[in-house]
Amino acid sequence: MSNVREYWKFRLRTVLKLGAMVKAAQQVEFDANNFSKPRLEFDKVPFAFDFRKLGYQQIALDIGCGNGEFTHQWATMHSDTLVLGSEVVGEQINKGIRHARTLGLANIKFLHADALKVLHFLIADASLATIFVNFPDPWNKRRHFKRRMHTVEFWQLCLRRLEPGGEIHFISDHQEIYSFALQQVQTLCAAKIAVTVSLPPADYPKSKYARKWERMGRTFQYFCVTKFV
Ligand SMILES: C[S@@+](CC[C@H](N)C(=O)[O-])C[C@H]1O[C@@H](n2cnc3c(N)ncnc32)[C@H](O)[C@@H]1O
Repeated sequence: MSNVREYWKFRLRTVLKLGAMVKAAQQVEFDANNFSKPRLEFDKVPFAFDFRKLGYQQIALDIGCGNGEFTHQWATMHSDTLVLGSEVVGEQINKGIRHARTLGLANIKFLHADALKVLHFLIADASLATIFVNFPDPWNKRRHFKRRMHTVEFWQLCLRRLEPGGEIHFISDHQEIYSFALQQVQTLCAAKIAVTVSLPPADYPKSKYARKWERMGRTFQYFCVTKFV
């Protein structure tokens, strides 16, 4: 099944469930300070939450944050930013939470959830300053192609959630997934975004994967998408 069909099936299911979900969301008190565990239940969170309401100037989302090494480093470097780390593997999230506690980081929250659902349901439009996609899973077997996330629809969704002037950083050591993601984002309207292909910024934090690939002598490819004002 093509990515496009998969996406529309997902959207259709979402629309059909909307009524029930809004009702449920109104009934529960959402504690935005405590939602890393248990796994996020999307019928129990409010729609389109603007995390800036928690008192931060900027919100960043790290998609597929793993054990949160990059997330921790970004939160340390930007104390006025709330950094959200979205990850599907619970054990990775636990490591991330433990390490954030050890570092005494208050401006970090881990979302144990599929990043697509986080983007669809949880994040308000034009509320994110930065989105990171660092070393996404390549899904390079043909039968796994449908799991590739970085389709045109993914980029459109990211851009809706991004505030004007906001940025998406994409980095990969995998040529095919990098080319796929770049080709998909470049089909979007050039009047609304700028896509810059370059080396990663000199101060771009290095995660576990980045360091591992570097040790193995692998090269990375990077691009940045900027949403025009
Ligand atoms: C290769 S690792 C990279 C981890 C991290 N970004 C880094 O640079 O160290 C990819 C991560 O993305 C996570 N992941 C894959 N699909 C995801 C999804 N739909 N939502 C959230 N996380 C996802 C995987 O569980 C894995 O931890």
